[in-house]
Amino acid sequence: MRTIIDLLKRDHTLSDRDLIYLLSSSDADTIQYLHQKAREVTLEIFQNKIYLRGLIELTNYCHNNCFYCGIRKDNKEVSRYRLSHEEVLGCCQEGYDLGFRTFVLQGGEDPRQTTPWIESLVRDIRTTFPECAITLSLGEKSYDSYLKFYKAGANRYLLRHETFDSAHYSSLHPSTMSHSRRQQCLISLKEIGYQTGTGIMVGSPGQTVEHLLQDIRFIERFKPEMIGIGPFIPHHATPFAGERAGSVDMTLRLLSICRLMLPHALIPATTALASLPGEGRLGGILAGANVIMPNLSPASLRKEYSLYDNKAAFGSESAQGIIDLAAQLHTIGYEISMERGDHPEYQN
Ligand code: 5AD
Repeated sequence: MRTIIDLLKRDHTLSDRDLIYLLSSSDADTIQYLHQKAREVTLEIFQNKIYLRGLIELTNYCHNNCFYCGIRKDNKEVSRYRLSHEEVLGCCQEGYDLGFRTFVLQGGEDPRQTTPWIESLVRDIRTTFPECAITLSLGEKSYDSYLKFYKAGANRYLLRHETFDSAHYSSLHPSTMSHSRRQQCLISLKEIGYQTGTGIMVGSPGQTVEHLLQDIRFIERFKPEMIGIGPFIPHHATPFAGERAGSVDMTLRLLSICRLMLPHALIPATTALASLPGEGRLGGILAGANVIMPNLSPASLRKEYSLYDNKAAFGSESAQGIIDLAAQLHTIGYEISMERGDHPEYQN
């Protein structure tokens, strides 16, 4: 079965049958070989550099009610916060002093963080830190808002499609949200010129291998510059409290398959992966990931940005822990890179 992995490496695609085989196989050697080939491709393109991004969680207010997410509107247990303009700039300054050259501004869809507010924040970060990349992860906005943020200086946008199958999408989200609106947002982001990231949660309730196949095909067609893949982890105060967490093994397979399909993609070893028992971020790197996003939010608020239970945010998950992180990566032969690390095919 190694031949199908060699084919995937050579052609960057594979038949449905062979993909389903890779997703369902229980042959440990095959899966090891899959990770090994993905790792080889990453090393060829990015050498042993792992790009770091400083993650700033702007707000845990959200007007959405996604069934899986701990900061959904109906979760009354959350103590809500939103950072001020000055606080965000303070986080960027702290990150800059630690060496970060990409800031990722992530948040719930908070109606009080309006388009002009975000625009002026992006503009100030752009002026203060001209050589840094600004990545936004603020959910679904209008074309016009995305365009304004881009013109103000944002370079990248992360918006996971979560699941491509529309019935499965509807089973994870309230009826106010739709799979087609999500897809439209992604198309707009690409059209405007963002380096665009998408991706999925692995093992979300009701997900089947056929759904994953559709997700892989979508990623193959859409060709995102960034791909975020992490396991679903239940949150105790959501409708999915009693569900099982997604599998680390399946998450790692998908990372490797995406790497072989889109060799130049920027693929993080996600926080959700780091939050489950297992090799955590290092397992992600060994499966072909090449980005880590340590937490740069104000330490006292980090626990409030709880998308799922036991989310890792301290120690080597925090921006302040990069010396530890570098030491961990060193044990498997990798180094952290503080370069801005744009997508290799990105022209600006
Ligand atoms: N488990 C894992 N990932 C989650 N996200 C939201 N809730 C959870 C959860 N319970 C992910 C979604 C979202 C990203 C910011 O966090 O995929 O796009």
